Amino acid sequence: MDDWRSYDGIAETYERINAPRLAQPAGDLVALAQPPPGGRVLDVGTGTGVAASAAAALLGPEGVAVGVDVSLGMLGQAARARPALRLAAAEAIDLPFRDGTFDAVTGSFVVSHFTKYQTALFDMIRVLKTGGRLALSSWADGDRDELQKTWLELVEGAVGQQMLIDVRAQALPWADRFADRTAIEEALLDAGLKHVRTERREYRFAYALHDYVEGLGTWSTGRFLRSMLGPEGWESFRRKAQRVFADRFSDPVNDFRDVWLAVGVKP
Ligand SMILES: C[S@@+](CC[C@H](N)C(=O)[O-])C[C@H]1O[C@@H](n2cnc3c(N)ncnc32)[C@H](O)[C@@H]1O
Repeated sequence: MDDWRSYDGIAETYERINAPRLAQPAGDLVALAQPPPGGRVLDVGTGTGVAASAAAALLGPEGVAVGVDVSLGMLGQAARARPALRLAAAEAIDLPFRDGTFDAVTGSFVVSHFTKYQTALFDMIRVLKTGGRLALSSWADGDRDELQKTWLELVEGAVGQQMLIDVRAQALPWADRFADRTAIEEALLDAGLKHVRTERREYRFAYALHDYVEGLGTWSTGRFLRSMLGPEGWESFRRKAQRVFADRFSDPVNDFRDVWLAVGVKP
């Protein structure tokens, strides 16, 4: 069986549905990292490149923005959608750059995925210049809203509650840690950064209901189910999910999500 945690199989849907919405928090994240015009920015776990693209716009024509990711599928979508971007396949714990290369390093909704987040932060800080900023975003919302509850109900109905706990632990081992302000700040301070601060921001993502449900298939639970059920099982699950959401929610939907934006300076 393929590694269901990979984003390879859902990259097209991610680019079509998630990327346009995540461009706004990605832009805010890059702004918080304050790269100088003409400077260099590395975006780790760039996916289809929304934060790297925001960085390129901020840096201007003299600047260099690079996006790295482990998923070739996501990088392929990034290259198609944003052909001017500089992209490379790389693991966050083993970045192919010299020490002190970048003015800023960003990680947009990425750090909770890392198996060893401390090792990844170490390498992300290694490639930063002294005085450079590391900026990270992560989902802050604790309470599950009705949209999320409905999705989890459907997934639990298909695979059971215990399996879902394992799925989350395997795909997003640090989601709880990086949903908590104190824990995020501690992680950045422990990594050696100074002037650490966090901001909580609320975003409103508007979707056609059908797209919202399609987008759920890119989440860890969706990727797991897709792999476990196989093409036919997944297709019938998707159809059921579309019916249930159409019965319960109005179309279009507004999804309000809280996000942490965190930043620290390399001393
Ligand atoms: C939720 S997506 C976020 C993508 C993008 N940053 C955005 O904001 O749209 C997480 C991305 O992190 C990548 N990723 C996960 N673990 C990684 C690792 N250890 N090294 C590099 N990339 C990783 C995944 O392949 C995926 O593209």
